[in-house]
Amino acid sequence: ATSAQRPPVIWLHFQECTGCSETLLRGAHPDLARLILDIISLDYHETVMAAAGHQAEEAMHQSMEKNAGKYLLVVEGGIPLAENGVYCKIAGKNAVDILKEVAAKSAAIIAYGTCATFGGVQAAKPNPTGAVGVDSIISDKPIINISGCPPNPVNLLGTILHYLTFNRLPALDGLKRPKFAYGRRIHDHCERRAHFDEGRFVEQFGDQFHKLGYCLYKVGCKGPETFANCPVARFNNEAGVWPVSVGHGCIGCTEPNFWDTMTPFYDR
Ligand code: SF4
Ligand code: SF4
Ligand code: F3S
Repeated sequence: ATSAQRPPVIWLHFQECTGCSETLLRGAHPDLARLILDIISLDYHETVMAAAGHQAEEAMHQSMEKNAGKYLLVVEGGIPLAENGVYCKIAGKNAVDILKEVAAKSAAIIAYGTCATFGGVQAAKPNPTGAVGVDSIISDKPIINISGCPPNPVNLLGTILHYLTFNRLPALDGLKRPKFAYGRRIHDHCERRAHFDEGRFVEQFGDQFHKLGYCLYKVGCKGPETFANCPVARFNNEAGVWPVSVGHGCIGCTEPNFWDTMTPFYDR
């Protein structure tokens, strides 16, 4: 893409651990430098931008004015609503107010990671800060949820490239997740599925069946209840691993409220 075609992106951070951005930093196809220099114009991102303080705020507002109605807003992190939103403040403003202000002029919003999509770990019971995902607050913009804790950067890149190529967002499921990435259960394309079908299970971590790579269902794998493309998209680029390939069950990190509904992670 030429610079004239690079879509402006504003990336906001709220209640989060920055793990979602970390996954993006490890992307290789394309890598981060190519992504932000050739493909998109990343106008605001607290972790990777050079600017700080007032200069950073100014860059964001300039982009919002110049690209009104055209920029993509990526949100990382949950948004606390309790006590009028005081639990997350940036530059003196509450997260919920920043989100509403930046969303108002955006073309579309990508909620990146389970915190931004469904509230995430801080929304686990009893959710003391009243954390929610973006679509509990914004209802008048197209929203796409790329869940996962962390999410897979290939699904963000695929969404952005789809948007650039076709000028619209990809088809979504009932939870606003792109079907190309969340259309199948983990269990339906897991490399250990043949072991499940034949009744060959790990009984306990470290046992002989664990060493043989048997199915992790009995030690808690939530692959049968979880929709995501981890077995095919995999993580860490050339290493090409995902939780089950390294011997750990899926904990359901792409599903809403998984901290409450998928726990205890090591039991069935
Ligand atoms: Fe961190 Fe997970 Fe939230 Fe991403 S979704 S910011 S990895 S806690
Ligand atoms: Fe299904 Fe998990 Fe067993 Fe894979 S390891 S076959 S996802 S239960
Ligand atoms: Fe998350 Fe399960 Fe994939 S824990 S990373 S959805 S294998």
